[in-house]
Amino acid sequence: MRATAAVLLVLCLLAISHAWDCQTVVDIYNLMQIDAGLGQVVATNTSQIPFYLVGDKWIPLPGSLRHITIGPAGIWGVNSGNIIFKYVAGNWQQYAIGVKQVDAGGAEFIVGANMDNTPFCVKSSAIVGIMGQDTHYHGTRLPGSVKYLSCGHFGCWAVNNNDEIFLMSNVNKDTCQNKGWSHIDGKLSMIEVATDGSVFGVTSDGQVYTRDGITASKPEGTGWSIVPMYMPMTHVTYDLGRLWVVSKSGVTMVCKR
Ligand SMILES: *[C@@H]1O[C@H](CO)[C@@H](O)[C@H](O)[C@H]1NC(C)=O
Repeated sequence: MRATAAVLLVLCLLAISHAWDCQTVVDIYNLMQIDAGLGQVVATNTSQIPFYLVGDKWIPLPGSLRHITIGPAGIWGVNSGNIIFKYVAGNWQQYAIGVKQVDAGGAEFIVGANMDNTPFCVKSSAIVGIMGQDTHYHGTRLPGSVKYLSCGHFGCWAVNNNDEIFLMSNVNKDTCQNKGWSHIDGKLSMIEVATDGSVFGVTSDGQVYTRDGITASKPEGTGWSIVPMYMPMTHVTYDLGRLWVVSKSGVTMVCKR
């Protein structure tokens, strides 16, 4: 009896140390997607309105976007016409066309997926100082075929149409040079890398996972851990201790360990 109690206690402590405390985010509904980076949070709702979080207020940004991202490369978005924009002095400046997803989380470079799932990278010098429409598109084609990709401290993670997971470590921000993708175990429908290198993703049936053991010398980490949630999720992003999740039912929650 005493042994059982001790085992139960240990199990409870383990459960508590892994538990995330989630609160529903009020005043924002029906988010399509959310991205947190450098202490800032941006999102789009299913009506393609982009938002920026100030205090606990979600301030609408101008324009209409179906994907928005924030990170060391600035604020970038993609609209329903597959045009990629950079946020410059409070307005969206067109940058390139034919893109369905973009991520600004890398070290001053951007990556994204074209309409045909071709991944691309745009080096630091071709994006950081860009103030408006650029007539020369400096994107570098990356190998493979992916539907969603995201970069952070130790590399870029991506998923393909079969929800297979890939990692590209050490992408050079000045040249976009890389050593190609390595396959990672598991299946996810979307994946986000935080600025600090933490990796979170969502499966097609709505479960949230995080990658354990990521370090500079082992950017692929050691394995996946489930992040327990009370409802199926569609989107996740993490920055500075806060995990933001959007449920399939349109509820947004912010979780802390
Ligand atoms: C998206 O946000 C706009 C602006 O707040 C709002 O009018 C619209 O109803 C929202 N769409 C959904 C589906 O909630």
